Amino acid sequence: MRTLRDINDLRTTVHKHRLRQQRIALVPTMGNLHAGHLALIASARQHADMVVASLFVNPMQFGPDEDLDAYPRTFEADQAQLTEAGCDILFSPTVSALYPNGLAAQTRVHVPELGEGLCGGSRPGHFDGVSTVVSMLFNLVQPDVAFFGQKDYQQLAVIRKLVSDLHLPIEIIGVPIVRAEDGLALSSRNGYLSQQERAIAPALYQTLCKLRDALEHGESAERVLHQGKTALYDAGFTPDYLELRDTMLGPVTSLTRHAVLLAAAQLGTARLIDNLSVQLPAATDASR
Ligand code: PAF
Repeated sequence: MRTLRDINDLRTTVHKHRLRQQRIALVPTMGNLHAGHLALIASARQHADMVVASLFVNPMQFGPDEDLDAYPRTFEADQAQLTEAGCDILFSPTVSALYPNGLAAQTRVHVPELGEGLCGGSRPGHFDGVSTVVSMLFNLVQPDVAFFGQKDYQQLAVIRKLVSDLHLPIEIIGVPIVRAEDGLALSSRNGYLSQQERAIAPALYQTLCKLRDALEHGESAERVLHQGKTALYDAGFTPDYLELRDTMLGPVTSLTRHAVLLAAAQLGTARLIDNLSVQLPAATDASR
């Protein structure tokens, strides 16, 4: 695997592969890789001849009081895991290479509507930061296909809309959530959990599973969500949101059959997110 820091080196290298008619995959990451990231790389290997992973802790997607400084940086271990996983190119630019004029002067990409509410509501500007850096990476690599985890459900929806609205010829593939044995969705932020919090953390997924079962049995969404929030508080979380949306993140109506439960909750210093699909029975409606 080649590690590249420089934008021009990246362009030249990728260009050579494109001239050979190779199908190019991009896996954007912020590093501190775990089995969830490796599932993205494995999927990319299956869909392309050449896999580019990016590793960039993107300051634009962190709010002023968020964990940019604390975000785990484990470059050497990440490099070793990517090599082992069969990644061809690791692109890891500096902040000044991507944002040479500073963040304030930087042109931004804003995806309306989908980026508002849920994580976008609690983290103002977050999805502009994600959309901007992902657009830059798309422009630099010009991949045929790009891979994102389904754990970041709203992020995946925002990126699909970005690609569609900007007519980018890039296929976006969402890769299923990878969970620990106890159900906790893998996340770099799980590393912030104390031993005691780590023991509590699977309750987020377990709560979603209970809510899904209740909804699939036709119970009222309002009541189920209320019970879910109470269960999260009782377990020790401070819930940020717990919502039922249709799969495009619109409101659930009487016609909705395929829905998704989405949750974000604070546990100690870790903000955990998770989601779960729900198949709503025909007899239920939006007034549940
Ligand atoms: O999901 C992430 O790790 C980041 O939001 C991404 C897509 C790499 C953009 O910085």
